[in-house]
Amino acid sequence: MQEFFEHVKNGLSKSPKQLSSRYFYDAKGDALFQSIMQLEEYYLPRCEMQIIKSKGEQMAQDISAVHPSLQIVELGAGDGRKTKHLLKQFKPYIDALEYLALDISVNVLATNKAEIRNEVEQIQHKSLAGNYFDTYQDLPTTPYGRLVLFLGANIGNYPTPDAIGFFKFIRSNLKADDYFLVAFDLVKHPRKILAAYDDSQGVTKRFNLNLLERMNRELGADFDVEQFDHFPFYDPLTGIASSQIVSLKAQTVEFADGFSACFDAFEAIHTEISKKFFWDDIEEIAHQSQMKIVHSYLDDHNGYTLVLFQPHGQVGTPK
Ligand code: AVI
Repeated sequence: MQEFFEHVKNGLSKSPKQLSSRYFYDAKGDALFQSIMQLEEYYLPRCEMQIIKSKGEQMAQDISAVHPSLQIVELGAGDGRKTKHLLKQFKPYIDALEYLALDISVNVLATNKAEIRNEVEQIQHKSLAGNYFDTYQDLPTTPYGRLVLFLGANIGNYPTPDAIGFFKFIRSNLKADDYFLVAFDLVKHPRKILAAYDDSQGVTKRFNLNLLERMNRELGADFDVEQFDHFPFYDPLTGIASSQIVSLKAQTVEFADGFSACFDAFEAIHTEISKKFFWDDIEEIAHQSQMKIVHSYLDDHNGYTLVLFQPHGQVGTPK
């Protein structure tokens, strides 16, 4: 909570004001995100599932040709409902399959274990609860090859320099022939992208404004949520969808410890970027982080891809 408060004080004192989307995900935010994933306009999970179902076996063949036994590490693993479909397709091609689910939520990891153990025979399942920037550095050593999964187009929530830093961090725990599989949402018609972040039922609006409610709940702030609006927009020049919260009038918000934030009428807080990738962007991230692209598994509409990377050049000694 102290960390959240420091972030809020710092972010609301900046010009322009900004807060990080990583604070969207309290219990209410998690539930709203689950609802977003069911929305017709939010096409991303359907594209990813279509690739997993149609290309999962090909991935298994490609990777098992190098690693007959495999440790699969998933960052932000979630409830496992999607990943079980991938693991099921890997199992026939892999002699020994170990799956390590990394997630911040202990409850979600319990569901993940039940889900995956029920559906994938003879899989060794391990869970590591905590921030994956910590847990990824503490992976159990393995004699098997390693495949790290980062799905859900989560990479799009990082500004490009941070995405490059994240790739370098992943690379630091890979051997030369290990793999990193990342989901990228690709550029497509701007209206389709905008609709995904401005849905007709207003679920994404509630998701964004929950950040204000969370500050009320946890930091004793007095945001009048009705006096703020959700404002998403998409810039096809950069491929960046941005979400902002706009103050509908001049107002001052007080926090429990005496901190206050003043808003001009129609002043905005920047809360999230969701980057949509040109192929050049992916190549640039790979290049800057000393990774090479091994394969791209596209969906049927060429709008979403799972890209398989390997370290390029000399690697250190991974754990
Ligand atoms: C988690 N992440 C990939 C989602 C996205 O598409 O950027 C979060 C989200 N924000 C609004 N809708 C969904």
